[in-house]
Amino acid sequence: MPRVRIFVCMGWLALAVTAQGAEGTPGQAPRIETGRRVYETHCASCHGAQGEGAPNWQQPDVLGELPAPPHDTEGHTWKHADGMLYRIVRDGWRDPFNKTERLTMPAFGQILSPAEIRAVIDYLKTLWSPEQRRFQIEESRKAPFPREAG
Ligand code: HEC
Repeated sequence: MPRVRIFVCMGWLALAVTAQGAEGTPGQAPRIETGRRVYETHCASCHGAQGEGAPNWQQPDVLGELPAPPHDTEGHTWKHADGMLYRIVRDGWRDPFNKTERLTMPAFGQILSPAEIRAVIDYLKTLWSPEQRRFQIEESRKAPFPREAG
């Protein structure tokens, strides 16, 4: 029954294409939406509405602290593996050369759930170029999201 077989094949193809979603990773669409909401509420004030970063983000400010960098193609967020990005958002971060001791990148471990942290990172990936995304997928093979992130 070749016709049935072709029909079944097309069904699978349609499923596969739908599951790919806009960002090209299976089943991601709802998580990206959650991530976008988390970003707008908790991150955009420092990192910019479009992930463009603070003005003069490459120069230390008057306190000797590096301002919030971009998360888009201009920044270097895409150079970090999933495991590292997760730790930065959960535990906070500061540039070791900052003149102050405080975490300029606040810790979100008490504010966001593990799933929300993962979602916001997956949202940041939509701001990268295809090449940056491919590079980051390779990096993340060695250092994936921790198991707590689901
Ligand atoms: C109060 C301002 C502020 C908020 C709010 C904030 N950040 Fe940051 N973030 C920073 C600063 C400043 C840095 C740079 C720290 C450094 O390297 O000195 C940073 C760095 C980062 C980095 C590392 C980037 C890199 O290229 O190394 C990531 C990832 C990040 N933030 C994600 C987030 C996410 C996701 C949120 C929201 C959940 C968020 N940030 C909210 C200020 C902020």
